[in-house]
Amino acid sequence: MRQKFFLFGTIAFLMALTVYYFFNFGLTAAICIALLLLVGLANSIQKKHAILRNFPVLGYFRYLFEMIAPEIQQYFIERSTDGKPFSRNQRSLVYQRAKNIDATTPFGTQLVLNQSSYEGIKHSMFPAKVKEDLPRVLVGGSDCTQPYSASLLNISAMSFGSLSENAIMALNKGALKGHFYHNTGEGGLTQFHLQGGDVTWQIGTGYFGCRDDRGGFDGGKFAEKANLPAVKMIEIKLSQGAKPGHGGVLPAQKNTEEIAKIRGVQPHITILSPPSHSAFSDAKGLVAFIAHLRELANGKPIGFKLCIGETSEFETLCQEMINSNCYPDFITVDGAEGGTGAAPLEFADGVGMPFEPALIFVTKTLVRFGIRDKIRVICSGKIISGYAILRAIALGADICNSARGFMFSLGCIQALRCNNNECPTGVATQNKMLMKGLVVTDKSERVYHFHKNTLHAANELLAAAGKKDFADVDISIFMRGDEFTHLANTYFPDNLTNVAK
Ligand SMILES: Cc1cc2nc3c(=O)[nH]c(=O)nc-3n(C[C@H](O)[C@H](O)[C@H](O)COP(=O)(O)O)c2cc1C
Repeated sequence: MRQKFFLFGTIAFLMALTVYYFFNFGLTAAICIALLLLVGLANSIQKKHAILRNFPVLGYFRYLFEMIAPEIQQYFIERSTDGKPFSRNQRSLVYQRAKNIDATTPFGTQLVLNQSSYEGIKHSMFPAKVKEDLPRVLVGGSDCTQPYSASLLNISAMSFGSLSENAIMALNKGALKGHFYHNTGEGGLTQFHLQGGDVTWQIGTGYFGCRDDRGGFDGGKFAEKANLPAVKMIEIKLSQGAKPGHGGVLPAQKNTEEIAKIRGVQPHITILSPPSHSAFSDAKGLVAFIAHLRELANGKPIGFKLCIGETSEFETLCQEMINSNCYPDFITVDGAEGGTGAAPLEFADGVGMPFEPALIFVTKTLVRFGIRDKIRVICSGKIISGYAILRAIALGADICNSARGFMFSLGCIQALRCNNNECPTGVATQNKMLMKGLVVTDKSERVYHFHKNTLHAANELLAAAGKKDFADVDISIFMRGDEFTHLANTYFPDNLTNVAK
């Protein structure tokens, strides 16, 4: 290919020169061809990129198409039901609810229902009245002196650093208007989180915002922030579903001077938080740390977030809580299908328990140890609709969090660029130019409407199931396709036999 490129390139160059010599035009073409030849020459002698060495100019098309592949996929190839991780239909639902416009669907479902993986709600012949009030749940066990009345749906942990300052401000202002909480993520509590909305302050292994000079936990700094009126609850992050067992990752491109200052780290380098906490290293230590934080926070609710891995460790922890008579006020269970700003693929694809079994395991284990009533269970994992909320409650959760749902409400288009600072919608970037696209006053309204309309949809489903309260919801209101495919397989052949007789 190289020979052909140089042969045809030289011929084209000479032809352009000849045309210019005789007819006095074509000089620009000759210059362009010469430049291409020079680029081609440079590429053919470099040793790093095999494609460019063999196809000195055409090779660039590969990089171009690779760069725009996600857009081509989304605009021209993706069908309504098959985008990943969220389908076009799922994303559209959030956009419509966030814009507070008609979110109905025409012509009937696009899903294949008559199959074993189908799931649906067993509606009642006598539906209940749809509740107008949006549901709330009180968080705070017997050691908590400042219990918090949380909304059933809240903003899951996403740090300033991972998200832009405009995104964080819009989320917090939306939370203020809708009266729900906004989890800071492990990147620390910043002025952008303090726009008036309720805050759950998350403490990760980097202890950003309550970090001593050696990177350990600083109780004094913690107490200062934990006692701010906006901070309603504190969450110790053990792990998250997208990268359990791996600490937080802040890519160098997103680690600006401002973020580095807030976190107390060096700017412009990739920041890897350690996988484990230095303040404790076992179940006993974690329980003692919970008690310590509760004391420093003057009795505010303290909980922890985890993605389930080795189940026996969770059982040991439950036993330890009983032994020490000290319980977290809440436990947040994150499914392995959870999102992140940046994670190694091995961790995203191959570590941790998915949402459904994890939630069932945690709630059943708490029941088995007789401590379910002492602890609220919060969950996260692709909860973006009223249906997903009801399903989570049926599996045992008390409260739901959504991260990517609220990102969609901010205008995220699933461009899959959270990790390289090039998010085109200004949601997950620190690029000031891109951030300008996200207007805080407009997007905070969308955050507010997404929350309100989604919970209203959950209220409607609750009523359709004939239930008056979310506390009455359990798994019995759901049916799975395997039930009726089994029914069909069992009864239709019999019926046909009867007919034949
Ligand atoms: C951009 C982004 C940043 C995140 N940052 C954090 C974080 O700092 N701490 C944490 O515990 N989880 C973090 N998460 C995980 C979410 O809080 C949530 O647990 C997970 O995405 C599942 O919820 P979802 O399916 O609604 O997105 C992040 C997720 C995203 C998408």
